[in-house]
Amino acid sequence: RVFDSSDDAARELAAEVAELIRSRAAEGRNAVLGLATGNTPLPFYRELIRLHQEEGLSFGNVITFNLDEYLGLERDHPESYWTFMHRNLFDHLDIAPDNVNLPSGTVADSEVAAHCAAYEDAIREAGGLDFQLLGIGRTGHIGFNEPGSEKNSITRRVHLDPVTRADAAPAFGGLDNVPTYAITMGCATILSAKRIALLAWGDKKASIVKAAIEGPITDQISASFLQEHGNTTYFLDRGAASLL
Ligand code: GLP
Repeated sequence: RVFDSSDDAARELAAEVAELIRSRAAEGRNAVLGLATGNTPLPFYRELIRLHQEEGLSFGNVITFNLDEYLGLERDHPESYWTFMHRNLFDHLDIAPDNVNLPSGTVADSEVAAHCAAYEDAIREAGGLDFQLLGIGRTGHIGFNEPGSEKNSITRRVHLDPVTRADAAPAFGGLDNVPTYAITMGCATILSAKRIALLAWGDKKASIVKAAIEGPITDQISASFLQEHGNTTYFLDRGAASLL
């Protein structure tokens, strides 16, 4: 779906997610949301905060699982995804701290496999992802599923692509400070969500959006796997949709 602005797209998607949260609350059930970082989700998060503050939308029945986290960063590192999510969303909502889940950035090497397995278990035990929010990286990654990530991949440690690290360098004050590894939900984890929304804004995303939507399904562009998911919508502004 193509919108005049990212704010228009964010409003539409936030209304959909608010409806999910409210309908679950009416049934006395939780809503399980998979969330994403990056600049792209910010208008969507601002709209969720507005719905909470101005329209009384409660997040008391919401459980969240973030896609990924850099390995080697403490939670309170300014560039950790933990910090990003709290600063841009959770600190402004009535969500219970225990209902917020992100992979750990400080798990010891010997514990990574068990930590990733526990993350998968926690998603399953919560009832599975009702909704998964995605951005898209320049390499076509969703989460940190860099080129070569298999469709059946699950939560695991990944080596970050040089392009992805270069894109993150300004925020870290130089390439040397950007972590080399991350923990990410896998492609299969993401594809297990009942509903998926991928957001992209601006001309710079146009060529990778075109490749993901119109190109072949390939592990070189993990977003292309979404072509086989029955309930995915791309929310695009005119720039991101300009090559379709
Ligand atoms: C990082 C994140 C992705 C995100 C991508 C694009 O790689 N792990 O989840 O989609 O950046 O970021 P932005 O939205 O800032 O363009």
